Amino acid sequence: MIKMQALLAVAVICTASAAHAAHATPARLRLATVESSPLLVGAELRPGIDLSGTWNYSIDPYRTGQAGFHGESPDPGQQRWRDVDVRAAMANDNRVLYEFDMAHSPVTTLPSSWLTEAAELRHYQGLIWYQRTFKAPAPRAGRQFLRFGAANYWTVVYLNGHAVGRHEGGFTPFAFEVTQLLRDGDNQITVGVDSQATPATVPPPVTDWENYGGVTRPVRLISTPETYVDDAWVRLTRQGMLAVDAHLDGGRAAHSPVHLRIAELGLDLAGTTDAQGNWHAIRAVPRALVRWSPESPKLYEVGIDAGEDHWRDRIGFRTVETRGADILLNGKPIFLRGISLHEEEIGPNPTRDMTPDAARALLGEVKDGLHGNYVRLAHYPHSEAMTRMADEMGLLVWSEVPVYWLVAWSNPDTLATARNMLAENILRDRNRASIAIWSVANETPVNEARNAFLRQLVSDVRRLDDSRLVSAALLVDRDPKASVPTMTMVDPLAEVLDVVAINTYNGWYTADRLADLPGSVWHLPAGKPLIFSEFGADAKAGFVDERAAPRKFSEQYQADYYRKTLEMANRIPTLRGLSPWILKDFRSPRRQNPDFQQGWNRKGLISETGRRKLAFQVLADDYEKKQAAGR
Ligand code: GCU
Repeated sequence: MIKMQALLAVAVICTASAAHAAHATPARLRLATVESSPLLVGAELRPGIDLSGTWNYSIDPYRTGQAGFHGESPDPGQQRWRDVDVRAAMANDNRVLYEFDMAHSPVTTLPSSWLTEAAELRHYQGLIWYQRTFKAPAPRAGRQFLRFGAANYWTVVYLNGHAVGRHEGGFTPFAFEVTQLLRDGDNQITVGVDSQATPATVPPPVTDWENYGGVTRPVRLISTPETYVDDAWVRLTRQGMLAVDAHLDGGRAAHSPVHLRIAELGLDLAGTTDAQGNWHAIRAVPRALVRWSPESPKLYEVGIDAGEDHWRDRIGFRTVETRGADILLNGKPIFLRGISLHEEEIGPNPTRDMTPDAARALLGEVKDGLHGNYVRLAHYPHSEAMTRMADEMGLLVWSEVPVYWLVAWSNPDTLATARNMLAENILRDRNRASIAIWSVANETPVNEARNAFLRQLVSDVRRLDDSRLVSAALLVDRDPKASVPTMTMVDPLAEVLDVVAINTYNGWYTADRLADLPGSVWHLPAGKPLIFSEFGADAKAGFVDERAAPRKFSEQYQADYYRKTLEMANRIPTLRGLSPWILKDFRSPRRQNPDFQQGWNRKGLISETGRRKLAFQVLADDYEKKQAAGR
């Protein structure tokens, strides 16, 4: 079992012990420690207390809760996490000063981004403190953990006035053990979240999507037995065997009896963990096993029993690989009829609160509306609500880390952050049948430092998960002298990828006539599957231009663009998938045309409120034909 520590001896951003997470100086402090944080794989299915709901919040734009005015430890009067009744303390002693009072600060509802909480926060990027109280389960046996689905971007957590840990990264889960810090009655949790990106973060400050700061996924208090299954991966190998890797954590992790059970298959595979609490087993596949596929998304109730712990997950079994230019699902060639998505729910004022219902609404547009079988979840790990919904509905997934555009390729901290984020994403979702491709980057400039950085990430993918494909969304060179659009893939990273993925926008960001697109020439690596990971054009829903040559931002232009780009794409012999940009209009501060954009990127095939544009049907017709032809 590849555990976090093994991979991330370099630096683990997540710090699990109170000692380490002492009151630090500025929020950018990066705590590198070789301690790994609990993974709690499958945690969302474990019993626990959901801490969603009403929280107090206090903004802290100068980060006074993290450092004093000379950068030293913060004044006690600014320490939002203190376990104190501010009003009573100041009423009882006129020497006492607090310049905050969390219990009487404004309230919000988590999970959500603060951007939608109040007008004055709409463009706030910085540090905000959240606090609430909750009652711990009593009596308490075993162990208790605070688990965050995600918080964007830097997070520090305190319980009852004690630091319990910090985490860097806006899109992956993290957990801290709090067994010794919980008390009977009310417990006070304080969370500091700082959304401010820097040139060293992943992603860097400039992207093409809204930076939703906040606790954007659920927070839960999870209970486990003293020894529990912290990591588990159960899958079909490419050789068609059933494999299980599990890691126990706790006093009785070593040399413990364990069972893998799949009742529907009558399977009960017994084993014993080794001295490190790891168990690896492999066996022939039960003949009755029905493989997962988009047409038949069969999921099994899978259990691993280890002493008092009964780990559970719902898992689909399938294989995905390449053979020459083909992508094979369960040994058969498949064409990925997809679309890209950001993590934004349908509605006029999204707050990145991706509930199962919100995920179902988006994926229903792909599966039923577009006749799709695939989604590119761009540009960062999406909520587990989304990847579990893809499992249930039968959609293959491209899962990505936000190594996006201008990353600090030569900064070892940035590489450590990217590696940690990639590992957290893979270790969270290895049991998701829907995930077929791990992506390590998007539209990154070709240079030696970037090539080395990305080759390391590709190597990490191969080490953590040998059952899936690895790719990255690449750019191509265009011959400025050619009489027709002529593109060549020269990116050396393509050599180490299973799937060559290309973003192309000829006819939108270029002066090409749409009529010239089908005649485009592509020089691509032979013998490798090609996915167009992006192409797209903006259209303001309802903006109509019926002229023979409709103008950009009209629905007619977007529809014509799709017709001609699809005609071009379908001529490429190694094309095996499409994820046009993008299903739904999404917030982007870079898009400020006052007539058409108003802070939204309008390349969606549906508007932010779900209104379908003309181009939606153009893509749906193309996919319906491909589906009918068995592609
Ligand atoms: C780029 C990028 C996207 C962006 C899109 C666009 O390719 O990958 O994140 O939103 O193009 O320009 O709309």
